[in-house]
Amino acid sequence: MKIGFIGAGNVAEIYARHFVRHGHEVVLSNSRGPGTLTELVRSIGPNAKAGTVQEAAQQEIVILAVGWQQAKKALANVSGWKGRILVDATNNSSGEPLGGKTASEIIAGYAEGARLVKALNTLVVDWIEGFSGKKLVLFLSGDDAEAKQKLAGALEQAKFTPVDLGGLVEGGKLQDFGGPLSGLHLDLLKRLEF
Ligand SMILES: NC(=O)c1ccc[n+]([C@@H]2O[C@H](COP(=O)([O-])OP(=O)(O)OC[C@H]3O[C@@H](n4cnc5c(N)ncnc54)[C@H](OP(=O)(O)O)[C@@H]3O)[C@@H](O)[C@H]2O)c1
Repeated sequence: MKIGFIGAGNVAEIYARHFVRHGHEVVLSNSRGPGTLTELVRSIGPNAKAGTVQEAAQQEIVILAVGWQQAKKALANVSGWKGRILVDATNNSSGEPLGGKTASEIIAGYAEGARLVKALNTLVVDWIEGFSGKKLVLFLSGDDAEAKQKLAGALEQAKFTPVDLGGLVEGGKLQDFGGPLSGLHLDLLKRLEF
């Protein structure tokens, strides 16, 4: 599958490497332009490309992997989501109050028309390489069953175990930063004293 990343930092890089290793193609983007990502994509391999934010947003699945404070500006560079799949991997770790909304409801407001899925945000990314070869659970929530199914298929191909939590609001409450599933894997690790 062709997967675009808005953001090319720690989270995007780790997922992009992992996805390419499992047969996906990726397009990474940032605010400074594709020229600044040449070395990064070369190091990932021929199935990784650098693009503009708009180009990344044209892929079959688009992953938002920027800091919470950068999300609004990053998404303002994309027009016409028209039913495309946007995966919100961000965490509002800023402490910014959300007026009783879940973080993904706010993100959905910046990407009108997108089929939004909240996913990839609860797992501390260092685990992905540390546990290579083992299946890790990734939670997802969203209101569009087909979008969730497509993402789940891509994640299964990449040897994750996707767990659908339901709608964007109900699942988002569990997945949001500080919620019960946020960093759960890390918590379990500490509790089990691995
Ligand atoms: N730490 C974890 O384990 C973990 C796990 C899951 C999710 N998350 C969440 O994932 C998100 C990304 O985290 P990170 O650690 O990867 O952050 P990061 O290393 O700071 O990377 C952020 C990326 O966003 C890009 N960016 C900033 N403004 C942009 C814009 N306007 N348009 C396009 N790209 C823009 C930055 O590049 P330029 O500045 O060059 O544009 C950079 O590549 C955060 O919300 C974080 O909370 C973290």
